[in-house]
Amino acid sequence: MERVAIILPSETYRAKAFVEAARDLGVQLTVVSEKRQLLLSEADFLLVDLTSPMQAAAEIVERHSATPFAAIIPVDDQGVLIAAYAAHDLGLAHNHPAAVATTREKAMLRRALRDKVPQPPFVVVERSADAAEVAAGLKMPLVIKPLSLAASQGVIRVDTPQEAPAAVARIRRILACTDRNPNEPLLFERFVPGDEVAVEGVLVGGALKILAVLDKPDPLDGPYFEESIYVTPSRHHPEVLAEVARVTQLAIDAIGLTEGPVHAELRIDGSFVRLIELAARPIGGMCGEALQFGLLGTSLETMLLRAALGMRIPEIRPYHPASGVMMLPTPTSGTFRGVSGGRDALAVDGITKLTVSVPVGDQVEAWPEGNRYLGFLFATGQTPAEVENALRTAFVLLTIEIDERPTESA
Ligand SMILES: Nc1ncnc2c1ncn2[C@@H]1O[C@H](COP(=O)(O)OP(=O)(O)OP(=O)(O)O)[C@@H](O)[C@H]1O
Ligand SMILES: [Mg+2]
Repeated sequence: MERVAIILPSETYRAKAFVEAARDLGVQLTVVSEKRQLLLSEADFLLVDLTSPMQAAAEIVERHSATPFAAIIPVDDQGVLIAAYAAHDLGLAHNHPAAVATTREKAMLRRALRDKVPQPPFVVVERSADAAEVAAGLKMPLVIKPLSLAASQGVIRVDTPQEAPAAVARIRRILACTDRNPNEPLLFERFVPGDEVAVEGVLVGGALKILAVLDKPDPLDGPYFEESIYVTPSRHHPEVLAEVARVTQLAIDAIGLTEGPVHAELRIDGSFVRLIELAARPIGGMCGEALQFGLLGTSLETMLLRAALGMRIPEIRPYHPASGVMMLPTPTSGTFRGVSGGRDALAVDGITKLTVSVPVGDQVEAWPEGNRYLGFLFATGQTPAEVENALRTAFVLLTIEIDERPTESA
């Protein structure tokens, strides 16, 4: 029986889905993680320090001599470099480590795409620069963001150059609260108006197979960019979707990604499609659960395992005519007290599941300081409009309870 190593930080929501996918495909799994996960008590574990990619990769290579791996799959950004190094040493299909490193740092990504892929004009701004002065030389509005964070944490829109210093100071405070370098340069880029879509795909030998395109029907105009609803299939015109696919593949080629999951975010700005972001991992959080394929409702994780093992990927047809997910917003920072109204929300036609993913009593942060969604609401239906409507109707029935913390002045 073949064995696959999956790199699964203990914080990930998708552990169970991968275990089930492996069981369905009859492959054995080694979970590479920084600690044992209770949910996966029967799994074979390899404990490594996920923050040291070279060292973690070396340990995977060592374990390979006892239990050989047919593939190594990262499930999130933390694992992509480890997987690339280990697979390289073992001669397995893999992304070049430099290519995945590029996707992990926003300035490197922008530079790699420059002049090759439509994207917002950008400037990388050093700590020592005068933010208002730099912004005054750029076309407004701008989006200012840190290079190393994710999940829209620290991403702020500014409409005038005068607002830039406060946004920069706020981003630096956010960086200082993480393990990142608080003095890292920041990215100033032109705000791209329009609808946003996400592309979920898998690469085999550099060729992109799109598994799903998801619309984000809530306007993401800022000033902060907390995600909310994703619905698939996309309602955009097939010509627009062809351009979305073309731009995504251009970006993949420019960066040099060749294998495994990809997740891209693009904006449709009139007749232009511009790339906002490209990552060598599947869609984040529990959102992947909104995607099921074929006649049997095959999971995204099964599709990714199949691709990694060189198995044929069955025809990509969604299992449900339409499906979607809503990430529960964090309206204010404070102590999370729970979500009520779940029973009513679940009774709404089309709603299939509500998961609250943060323990009651935890401190939660609103965006842009925040990076953790409180939970996920899922729906299926005959059309994307029906799914969107179900999510909105159900959401109104929920009450998110947070004991508000007095805000520090920004
Ligand atoms: N130039 C831009 N114009 C318009 N909106 C933007 C722009 N840059 C970012 N955004 C918005 O902010 C969101 C987050 O930005 P981005 O994807 O660059 O960072 P991130 O989500 O923190 O990183 P990651 O996607 O790697 O987790 C985007 O999905 C988009 O809605
Ligand atoms: Mg993003």
